[in-house]
Amino acid sequence: MRFGLIAAALLLCAGPAGAKTAPLPPQPWMNTTLSPDDRAALLVLQMTEDEKLTLVRGYFGVPAGPFAEGMPKGAIGSAGFVPGIPRLGIPALQETDASLGIANPFNVRPGDVATALPSSLATAASFDPAAAYDGGAMIGQEAWRKGFNVLLAGGVDLARDPRNGRNFEYAGEDPLLAGTIVGEAIRGIQDQHVISTAKHFALNDQETGRGILNAVIDEAGARESDLLAFEIAIERGRPGAVMCSYNELNGAYACGNAQLLNDVLKTDWHYPGFVMSDWGAVHDVGYAAAGLDQESGSQFDSPRAMAALTGANPAGLPQGGPPFAQPLKDAVDSGRIPAARLTDMAQRILRSMFAADLFDTPPAKTTIDYKADALIAQKEEEEGIVLLKNAGNLLPLTTTAKHIAVIGGHADAGVLSGGGSSQVIPAGGPFIQIPMGGEGPLAAFDNAVYDPSSPLQAIRAAAPGAEVRFDDGRYLSTATALAKWADVVIVFATQWLSEGTDAPDLTLPDRQDELIAAIAKANPHTVVVLETGDPVMMPWLEDTGAVLEAWYPGSGGGPAIAAVLFGAADPSGHLPITFPQSIDQNPRPQLPGADFPPSTPFDVDYSEGADVGYRWFAKNDLTPLFPFGFGLSYTTFDYANLAVTGGQTLTVSFDVTNSGSVAGDAVPQVYLTARAGQNLERLIGFVRVALNPGETRHVSVTADPRLLADFDMAAHGWRLAPGEYDVAVSRSAAAPALAGSAILDGAVLQP
Ligand code: BGC
Repeated sequence: MRFGLIAAALLLCAGPAGAKTAPLPPQPWMNTTLSPDDRAALLVLQMTEDEKLTLVRGYFGVPAGPFAEGMPKGAIGSAGFVPGIPRLGIPALQETDASLGIANPFNVRPGDVATALPSSLATAASFDPAAAYDGGAMIGQEAWRKGFNVLLAGGVDLARDPRNGRNFEYAGEDPLLAGTIVGEAIRGIQDQHVISTAKHFALNDQETGRGILNAVIDEAGARESDLLAFEIAIERGRPGAVMCSYNELNGAYACGNAQLLNDVLKTDWHYPGFVMSDWGAVHDVGYAAAGLDQESGSQFDSPRAMAALTGANPAGLPQGGPPFAQPLKDAVDSGRIPAARLTDMAQRILRSMFAADLFDTPPAKTTIDYKADALIAQKEEEEGIVLLKNAGNLLPLTTTAKHIAVIGGHADAGVLSGGGSSQVIPAGGPFIQIPMGGEGPLAAFDNAVYDPSSPLQAIRAAAPGAEVRFDDGRYLSTATALAKWADVVIVFATQWLSEGTDAPDLTLPDRQDELIAAIAKANPHTVVVLETGDPVMMPWLEDTGAVLEAWYPGSGGGPAIAAVLFGAADPSGHLPITFPQSIDQNPRPQLPGADFPPSTPFDVDYSEGADVGYRWFAKNDLTPLFPFGFGLSYTTFDYANLAVTGGQTLTVSFDVTNSGSVAGDAVPQVYLTARAGQNLERLIGFVRVALNPGETRHVSVTADPRLLADFDMAAHGWRLAPGEYDVAVSRSAAAPALAGSAILDGAVLQP
C-alpha cells in the first residue's frame, strides 16, 4: 500500500505520458522513515503562499440553505472539506462528523447509512478505556471506508450543567474519566489513518447562546477541570486537530483566544497539531495570530450567509467574506500577520496529516460490515447501561414471567438518538424519525431519530416462553390496563436532546413522569428503562421496582438492553455525571441566557471553578438523587487489603473479590478525600475488573500527580503540597469502601 502510493505520487510529478520528462523532482517528504515533523517541514518549503492559503481554509461540504451554489469541487459531501494540492500530492481533507458515528447531514450522500455508537455518556459510564478505543476504531474504520480522512470526534467538554443539550456527545463531569475515555476513542480513530479532533476547546459547556456567551472562570479552576480533561485526552489520543469552540472564554472568543491557543495549548502543552475552528466561529483575521490554524466551513463566517441561514435580517451586516480568505492574504502581504505564521499554520496541518498516515494510507471506498459493527456498539452499550435501582432483585428477569408488558418510548421501533451535527442516519433497516417542531433551514436536524434496534423485538427473543405485549403509552387507560395484566412491566422513557438547545429542566418531557407513575401504581413490578441525553429527576422512583439508565443506546441498543434485563450481561455501568434531586442543587439553577433574547451577549459565571459535579456536591454537603460513579450489579464485590504508598505520587493497591454468584465487572474508584487534613473529593484513578464468582484480583492504581495538585498561577505549575493525603477506594463518589493515607514529598510540576 505504502509503496503503491509513493509510486503514484512520483508519477504525478512525472508530467504527461510520453513527454520528454525532466528528472523527477525528488519528493523527500514521502520518505516514510522520516518523522511527521521532518516530512511536514520538507513539504511546506515547496509551497507557495496561495497553496498555504488553500490549506488553511475549509468549506462546508453540503450544498444546503444559503450555500446552495453547490458542493465544493472534490468534496464527497459532509460537514467539512479542504481542497488538496495535486501539484504536491497533498490530499484533500474530507471531514465528517462526529463522535457517535459517521453523519450524513441533509442526506447529502443519498442513502448512506452508518453504525451509531451509544452516546458518549454511555461510553464514559463503562469506565472502560478499551471499549472507548474499540468504538473509536469502529467509527474511524467506517469513516475511512467511506472516503473520509478527518473525523470531527472527540467531544470532551465537561458536564457542568445537567441540562446541556450536548452532554450526550461528551464524557461526563470528571476530567480524569472524560480525558481517558475520549483520549482512547481518539486513539482508536487515528489508528485507522483518520485524523480526529478533540472538541470544543474550551468551556462550551452549554448550548444556550453558545455563540455569544462569555464563559468566566478563574484560570487555575479551568486548568484543573475542563482544560485538564482536554490535556489528558490530547496526551492519550494525540489528536491531529483541536477544534476551538463558539463561545468566549474570559472575554475573548475561543478561536481567537491567544491565551488559550498559543499559551496553554501550544506552549504549555507543546501541542504539535493544528487548531481548526468550529463552523461559524471565526470573526476576525487576527485569530491567525492568536493561534487558529484553519478556518472550517468558511461560508458560515460570512455574515450575510449566516443571516440567510439563521433567518436574520442581512440589512446593515458587513459585506465581508471569510476571514481566512482574502483578508488573511492581505494581512500576510501587508505584514500584519507574519508570513512565518502562515507557514506554521500550513506546516501544523501537514504534520498531522503525516502523523495520522493520510498521505501513505488514503481512504479506500470499501464495503462495511454493519452487522459486525453493531456488535461493537452493542458491547459498548452493555457496559454502559447503569442499574440505578433493583428492589427485591426484580432484575434480572427470569423465564418465569409469563406476561410481559412493554410500554412507551417507541420500543417497538428502536432506540432514541440525539440530534444535531452528530446525528447518524442509522444502518440496520428502516427507522422512524419524529419531527420535533424546529423551524428554518436547519429544521431537518430537528427530528428524533430512532436507531432501528428494537428493544421489544430483543425482549421477545430473550423470553420465548412469555407472552410479550406492547402499548405505545399514549393513553394512560390502555397502558395501565396492560400493566395490570402483566407479571412484569418494562416502561421505556425518552428525552430527546439536540445540539443548539438545552433541556429547560430536569423532567422527562411529554408527561412521561405521569405515565410511569400510573404504571407503577398499577403494577409494582415495573422496570423503567431511561433513554435520556442528560440526568432526569425521578418523582416515581419509590414506587418502581427497577430503573436502568440506557442513555442513547446506539445501533446495538435493543439487544444490549435485553441482555441486561435478562441477565445475559451483568449491569456494570457507573454514572459519569451526578443525577441531582433538583436543579436547585446546581451552581446555576437558572440557565444562563435563557431569559435573554438570543442576540444579547451574556456572561456565564463558572464561579464553582474546578468543583464540577460530585465535587460541588461534596463541597456543599448536598445529597444527589444518584451520585457520580454509582451503579448496581447482579453480583456483589468486596474490597480488602488496601495499601497506599506516597513519595512523589500516590499508589493505591487493593484486592477486589466477586463475592456473589454471577460473573461481573467491578469498577472500583479511587478518590482523594482529604489533603493535609482538609476535606476534598477528586477521582484519582479507576479500574474495570472482570471477575468470576469467588475470584479475587489484586489491582493497583498510580495517581497522575496533577490530580492531587492545585494549579499554582504564580509558580505556573502544578503545586503538590507536602503532607498527608487521604484516599478511599469507593463504589461511587458517595460510598467509600476502604480508606487509607500516605505522605507526599511535595513538588511543583511544570505544565
Ligand atoms: C458543531 C461541531 C461540528 C460542526 C460541523 C458545529 O455546529 O459544533 O461539533 O463538528 O458543526 O458539523
